[in-house]
Amino acid sequence: MDYHEQIPGWFDFADIYDHLVERAGEGAIFVEVGAYLGRSSIYLASRIKRSGKRIRLYVVDLWDGWVYSACHSDASLSQAKDVYGEFVRNARRAQVEDIIHPLRMSSERAADLFEDGTIDFVFLDADRAYPAVRRDLQAWFPKVKRRGVLGGHDYTNADCPDVRRAVDAFFQDQALTLQVHGTSYLAVKPSPRWLNASSRARQRLVPV
Ligand SMILES: C[S@@+](CC[C@H](N)C(=O)[O-])C[C@H]1O[C@@H](n2cnc3c(N)ncnc32)[C@H](O)[C@@H]1O
Repeated sequence: MDYHEQIPGWFDFADIYDHLVERAGEGAIFVEVGAYLGRSSIYLASRIKRSGKRIRLYVVDLWDGWVYSACHSDASLSQAKDVYGEFVRNARRAQVEDIIHPLRMSSERAADLFEDGTIDFVFLDADRAYPAVRRDLQAWFPKVKRRGVLGGHDYTNADCPDVRRAVDAFFQDQALTLQVHGTSYLAVKPSPRWLNASSRARQRLVPV
């Protein structure tokens, strides 16, 4: 049994993490926003380690004992325990503390630490309220490289309808089509060539 399976959490997107590790180049930068006790982060870190690739993984969370998700009620998770301490201990027990770079701060503050267009893969698994999802998308999408990927959890979870509403509104504005994988979505940031072609096409469509 992989160590992450012993950690309480809501991780059902292993196939996405497997795919992104496989497609990543040397020196790639990955960010996971929303880790809680580390079930998903530790899975991702262990796959990075196994790949032997030099991928830098930042994991962002407030780790203040709350889940910030009206659609995740799990009575077995205590709201008051030392969530950050437990996250760090889990990473150590799984022998991936050398792969994970924790950023204990709000999602927005963490996004400010990165230059635009520098991240290969961001996965959003934090607050599911409509304004929070929109805020996370606005903060993180500009940070993703051309041909990089932004994804997020609970897009198809009927208990979290705000996620889909916020994600659809955001990507409609960007004129981007999403890929849906299980409960999650992925958006690939277009290459400059696509952007030029699409803006030329739009210009042609504008009536003169
Ligand atoms: C559903 S849990 C993450 C589950 C985890 N990925 C797993 O596999 O079990 C959501 C996490 O997002 C964090 N979070 C919520 N809002 C946040 C924010 N604005 N900034 C940073 N972290 C936030 C919470 O502290 C919580 O630990």
